[in-house]
Amino acid sequence: MPFDLTQPLSWESAAGDAAVMLDELQPNIVKAHTREFLTVLFLKFTDPAGGRALLKSLSQPPAGAPLLKAARTHLMEVKAFKANGTKGTPYVGVGITRHGYTALQVPDPTIPQDGSFLAGMKNAALNDPAPANWDPHFRDVIDAVILVGDQMSGPRNRVLAAVHQLIQAAHGVQILGEEKGHGLHNKNGDGIEHFGYVDGRSQPLFLTEEINDERLTADGTSNWDPAFGLNRVIVPDTAAPDPTRHFGSYFVFRKLEQNVKLFKKQEKALAKRLHLRGDDAERAGAMLVGRFEDGTPLTTQFADGNHHPVPNDFNYDSDPNGAPSVRSSAISARSTRAVPAASSRSRASACTSWRGAARLTACAPTSPMTAGSTTSRARMSACCSWPSMQTSRSSSNLRKGHGQTIRAFPGCPQAPAAPVSTW
Ligand code: HEM
Repeated sequence: MPFDLTQPLSWESAAGDAAVMLDELQPNIVKAHTREFLTVLFLKFTDPAGGRALLKSLSQPPAGAPLLKAARTHLMEVKAFKANGTKGTPYVGVGITRHGYTALQVPDPTIPQDGSFLAGMKNAALNDPAPANWDPHFRDVIDAVILVGDQMSGPRNRVLAAVHQLIQAAHGVQILGEEKGHGLHNKNGDGIEHFGYVDGRSQPLFLTEEINDERLTADGTSNWDPAFGLNRVIVPDTAAPDPTRHFGSYFVFRKLEQNVKLFKKQEKALAKRLHLRGDDAERAGAMLVGRFEDGTPLTTQFADGNHHPVPNDFNYDSDPNGAPSVRSSAISARSTRAVPAASSRSRASACTSWRGAARLTACAPTSPMTAGSTTSRARMSACCSWPSMQTSRSSSNLRKGHGQTIRAFPGCPQAPAAPVSTW
């Protein structure tokens, strides 16, 4: 029985094809998986059979439990954790690049056909540095990524060791490099990015259970409805046995450098220009980001303090210019992008325009890989659905100087490493 991809899905009552989809889909697509500690391995295949054997062994290992679990298993783990605190299992995810499909000898007509995916990140018009200047392991041709994450470092390390063993046992699989990240938090326990702002709060929701939770246990959905249809995040996996029931998502991996010092300097300069003094100076940063550091939306009040829970039910309708940096002088502080027109939908474009400004001044890509470009539709639905992870252990230094952020976005339809079903 086919299911409606244009609507969110109730996973608890999913039946027929929808149930098969959840049993075959990887976790961390329809709902983000906890991954305070994350390692991403970048692989090259030199033997198609060896590469295939490795992928198969992740869900059917020679001994022990499968490392790659299904989306439904993940959702059941989350439910059990909420009910009685039972800890879930670590997250393992896999993505294959366009070149990876060929290296695995997947027939051309079944390779996902998205243009940006086929072109690859090295050819994306994103104003990135030349690939020759990327970190060495991103310069090579990458065939696949394996992601291993958990709430704690111990379980992540154990599963990572098991993945390493499978890679060693597989013929013709080479590790080109790895990236490690761990989550950053503020004193309220909320996840933050390197400039110190709460991040990862505004997320598209694809499951009716999550949408109901947002309505009933958070600040509601009357001003901003985070509900999105499944087709914003999953696509039929054309290389899987039954693409009507086997789905995947495009996955984007970007490594960005945040110049924290410069951001703070620009924030101060903006506050000076706007004559914002004392505690009010914080408003300059909020005008750039749309929220105060603790997540308080700028449109809801003129100071921070509204963070329990961090609100998400807001829009920019009260703002005549429809953007976070409404005050006219702040608008001139923006760089390349026009201030979006007022509408309740302006939130996505507002962030995009902030990003446009911030990237020029303080936030720049260092080593993008794998993916193609994203469209604004993709940004709306998927980007930032992974909170940023810092790639160094020393967060205090990073807050003062540079921070490197890895952002991995499942679901950007215009991009990169297509995930496999568990074939
Ligand atoms: C270093 C780079 C970036 C930083 C520091 C950053 C930071 C933030 C922060 C602090 C928020 C507000 C928290 C929230 O609403 O959850 C946010 C929201 C958002 N970001 Fe980013 N971001 C970055 C890059 C990106 C990229 C690359 C994309 C898309 C490709 C993106 C898309 C979004 C979207 C769609 C929102 C939600 C806007 C809303 O609903 O109001 N961001 N980001």
